[in-house]
Amino acid sequence: MSHQSLVPEYIASIKPYVPGKPIEELERELGISNSIKLASNENPLGPSPKAIEAITANANQVHYYPDGAAFKLKAACAEYVGATSDEIATGNGSNELLTLIARTFCTPGDHAVISDYSFIAYRIIMQAEGMEWTSTAMKGDYQVDVDAMLAAITPETKLLFVANPNNPTGSYIPRQDLERLLTQTPEHIVVVIDEAYHEYVQAEDYASAVTLRDLRENLLITRTFSKAFGLGGMRIGFAVGPAELIGYINRVREPFNCNLLGQVAAVAALTDSDFIARSVEVNEKGRALVEERLQQLAEQGVTWTKSQTNFLLIHTPHPATELYNSLLQLGVIVRPMAGYGLTKSLRVTLGTEEQCERFIDAFTKVLAQH
Ligand SMILES: Cc1ncc(COP(=O)(O)O)c(C=O)c1O
Repeated sequence: MSHQSLVPEYIASIKPYVPGKPIEELERELGISNSIKLASNENPLGPSPKAIEAITANANQVHYYPDGAAFKLKAACAEYVGATSDEIATGNGSNELLTLIARTFCTPGDHAVISDYSFIAYRIIMQAEGMEWTSTAMKGDYQVDVDAMLAAITPETKLLFVANPNNPTGSYIPRQDLERLLTQTPEHIVVVIDEAYHEYVQAEDYASAVTLRDLRENLLITRTFSKAFGLGGMRIGFAVGPAELIGYINRVREPFNCNLLGQVAAVAALTDSDFIARSVEVNEKGRALVEERLQQLAEQGVTWTKSQTNFLLIHTPHPATELYNSLLQLGVIVRPMAGYGLTKSLRVTLGTEEQCERFIDAFTKVLAQH
């Protein structure tokens, strides 16, 4: 008997999120060892040593519930972005905050605008809330087209989700375009700028929306500890916005949504600016190395999209799922992009120098077999 009638059609038709393959799973399946994972944009340096210290020091406290108000974490995040604690909401990763934002501000049938090839979680979140949306085409080399997004706004639109820089393309929105988006989107719409990769950005004409808050009242910015801070496993993210909007999110949020060790780890990681600087440096080196080697594969039809993040979107003439499977055999886990409709593209996280070399050697070998 099918139980499909138990759930609304919009829930039944959700295509579940497919995460990057865990190393353990690959090694169990293939009976291999020494694999590397460059599939989920994690920090190849591991967690900040200060975060590890904080986790260890607080391990004997986990019989207590965490601070539901996340007092210290909110204060530390507020200081980091130049806001006040009542302008910060914390979440079980920024993914939870994106979900909470949709749940707090929208009802089934409400409309949102997103860009094609933006973070796939937006679609899952909106579908789970029974929302409708318009996804606009990108321009140029997988750039978010701000004007197309503005043109897609209807009287029913309640929300805009924009990642800057964007996953899976790695591209970013220049400051002028972002300013236009923030000022020209009608006032009643909640604009969400997802800055999960903020710490990695080098482009001079990039501006975090945190610095543009004066331009717009209904603006929420999300950040995460999962990428440059190296704490993906601790599940901590935060949102910045007007105290009133943050207050509504806090009414919907579960009381203890940020775990105790995650909170102390994130606070400690925020004090470790050396670690962030090192992470960014390693990332820049990794990108230069992979780009140089990809250039040598140009004759084989390989291109890539310019990135401001810790990953590269690589385009090939071949079905990317086949390349992905061949790379798995060599113990290298990347991410095929078929779920995004990019059937000939792979997304690879920039690792340490050694990991980048290992990827590019394996990729070169696998390409030669096709
Ligand atoms: C653009 C973007 N936003 C949000 C997230 C969610 O990250 P987390 O829930 O770990 O904070 C990710 C994760 O890959 C991402 O790429």
